[in-house]
Amino acid sequence: MTPDTLRAHLLAWYDAQARDLAWRAGPKAGWRQDPYKVWLSEVMLQQTTVPHATPYFLKFTARWPTVSDLAAAPDEEVMAAWAGLGYYARARNLLKCARAVAQDHDGVFPDTEEGLRALPGLGPYTAAAVAAIAFDRPANVVDGNVERVMSRLYAVEAPLPDSKPELKALAADLVRDDRPGDWAQALMDLGATVCRPKSPLCERCPVSEACAGLATGAPETYPRKTKK
Ligand code: ADE
Repeated sequence: MTPDTLRAHLLAWYDAQARDLAWRAGPKAGWRQDPYKVWLSEVMLQQTTVPHATPYFLKFTARWPTVSDLAAAPDEEVMAAWAGLGYYARARNLLKCARAVAQDHDGVFPDTEEGLRALPGLGPYTAAAVAAIAFDRPANVVDGNVERVMSRLYAVEAPLPDSKPELKALAADLVRDDRPGDWAQALMDLGATVCRPKSPLCERCPVSEACAGLATGAPETYPRKTKK
């Protein structure tokens, strides 16, 4: 299967199956995503699962509907609202970033990966995710889900974490200018719902024909990991 055929299969699956998540303006191509909501959800999701993050996301966006509202909130209120999500350094970085957007960018998120990367408290993963999902930039968005999908599709024998650059390069080869935001989310949804860590649902996978990991007979054994 060519990369473009693989992409077409997965994007068609996403069009039919995309999860209806609170921060998605709409899963289909061309729907306008609010950069503030994309950013906030991505920061929360680095911390925890979709079911755990969703009530926090709804609470934050009800209380602080824009990044400038969040920027103006007292630290203690934001820290208290974050309680239960864990890892307070992330909440501090969240506020630092919100204030930079409010003060230095008139409350408007930069619309490129480089511009986002220059914000304080916003790391490379989040910059790629927001650039792709909010601004449809062809950024390579690689989280643990995407690493797992790549390791299986291409039966990568090198173990994590050493294989991270290889997995990232494999993911980069599939990014196109066409629908990069949907592509990033399609890969994440596939990893979360079908290409699951322990018991992948290969019979439901739109790209199983292309999967070298499935062809080995033991897709769940990928990604390989260095023994601790
Ligand atoms: N996990 C992290 N970001 C996500 C997103 N935008 N959609 C689904 N799962 C995710």
